[in-house]
Amino acid sequence: MTHPIENRVPRRVRGRNRVAGLTAAALAAVAALAGCGAIPGTVNPVADQEFSSPLAIPPLADSRVVDGTRVFELTAQEGTSSFLPGVETTTWGFDGAYLGPTLRAERGERVAVEVTNDLRATTSVHWHGMHLPAAMDGGPHQEVDPGATWRPEWEIDQPAATLWYHPHPHGTTEEHVYRGLAGMFILDDDASRAATLPQEYGVDDVPVIVQDKRIGNDGELELGNDGGEPGTLGDVVMTNGTVGAFHDVTTERVRLRLLNGSTARTYDLGFEDRDVDVVATDGGLLEAPVPAPSVRLAPGERAEVVVRMQPGETLRLQSFEVDLGGVAVPFAMGGNDAFDVLELRAASTLAPSPAPSWEPSSHAADDELHEADATVTRKFELNDRSINGKEMDMSRVDDVVTVGNTEVWEVRSSQPMPHSFHVHDVQFQILTVDGKAPPATLAGRKDTIYLEPQRTYRLLLRFEDYADPETPYMYHCHMLLHEDQGMMGQFVVVEPEDDRQVGQLPDGSQHGEHDHGAAPAEGSGPDLTAVSGHGGHG
Ligand code: C2O
Ligand code: CU
Ligand code: CU
Repeated sequence: MTHPIENRVPRRVRGRNRVAGLTAAALAAVAALAGCGAIPGTVNPVADQEFSSPLAIPPLADSRVVDGTRVFELTAQEGTSSFLPGVETTTWGFDGAYLGPTLRAERGERVAVEVTNDLRATTSVHWHGMHLPAAMDGGPHQEVDPGATWRPEWEIDQPAATLWYHPHPHGTTEEHVYRGLAGMFILDDDASRAATLPQEYGVDDVPVIVQDKRIGNDGELELGNDGGEPGTLGDVVMTNGTVGAFHDVTTERVRLRLLNGSTARTYDLGFEDRDVDVVATDGGLLEAPVPAPSVRLAPGERAEVVVRMQPGETLRLQSFEVDLGGVAVPFAMGGNDAFDVLELRAASTLAPSPAPSWEPSSHAADDELHEADATVTRKFELNDRSINGKEMDMSRVDDVVTVGNTEVWEVRSSQPMPHSFHVHDVQFQILTVDGKAPPATLAGRKDTIYLEPQRTYRLLLRFEDYADPETPYMYHCHMLLHEDQGMMGQFVVVEPEDDRQVGQLPDGSQHGEHDHGAAPAEGSGPDLTAVSGHGGHG
């Protein structure tokens, strides 16, 4: 009943192993649900993994500045990758066969991206974590047809952070990301540049996109969409598209920009014998470095960690069994597995690098959120493949938010099942988890949060700058099968004088390719403090 990835490497069991405590019947049910067990017909390359391939570093994207706007180009295309020796795999990438270049821009800059779709499928490109107008967001309402180019443009107006980009086409996001469409988008600001942190891209400041795949005997990616939980769990783990990667370290400290770019699997990343300094989460730098044995990342989440190395040593970044916070969960989106992810090889002499530290950004006061400012509380209950009892409907507005408002969102997975809750446009703050302050590593800004089952997360969010009553932003589970199957809702941000209600999007608003049949505009006059259980199921 164990997933084949288990037991390949030394594991550090952190707390009670919940699976071990289950009865045989429960285990059988879990295996059926999880669709794990031995996967027939798949190769098993990680079993005696050698970390002998240099880590691919996504190139920094070229850009040109036109009339004060920094313009990038990205082309989604099909290609061939060789993840396993001698095995060719059809993949998708931006400007290449797999993944995409790292975009990089500065707070205050105006940017544009010319996104061209050379695939045969309609796609989109969403700027995950970015504060920007809804029409530029790249969600399911901004799909790009084959052969078309889409050119969003916006001003970078948020703290330095490790963001990312990936497709968001309605109902097929899992497939597009799984095939390889994803990349990092790094934002800089004065505070981040002045910080005492490793900053040499690809050398001591290293992007690490962690993903897992299933590769069939024919060499092709297998998308295990048998409808089971939790989506596709692969037995091939890769970083930046490199299986069994190592990175040569030449400095005493190395900064890893960790992105969980998997569609389903949750990781708990750390080292066997030492803590890391967690320096940033989704939305940017923490107040100060937080030493931690590991960081748990659900799909879509990021963390920047700094690890200290000794001359000449070899160290492996591992994914440990996920600590579920004491909640009994039969399976945790791959969280029961433990395995190695990336090898770091320190040179025999290392250049000195001082301990991480930084001054708060000069914008810090503006960026601060205050619970006392919150005027609205909303509740979001994640259940089956729905949120508040509703499955995603492209033509339905689920929430109307007034621009400039600060709100509290109470989010809960009501079943014994974790989710990864993500909100577009904003970087929120976690006020409490089941009434208690969040751990220090979750006290910074976030746009995606692992929801431990049956716990209530109170989030503080402020919706600034961009009102557009016709174009919604999304909130959803970032376990992409869940998202595709309906665990997503839409909110519009409107001007204060706009008395719009929840219901149907107005005529003439942007729509994607797919026709989803209009939902009746019921439940006007939303009760903002109650779970709005109205609205039909798909
Ligand atoms: Cu990273 Cu709505 O997505
Ligand atoms: Cu997003
Ligand atoms: Cu989910």
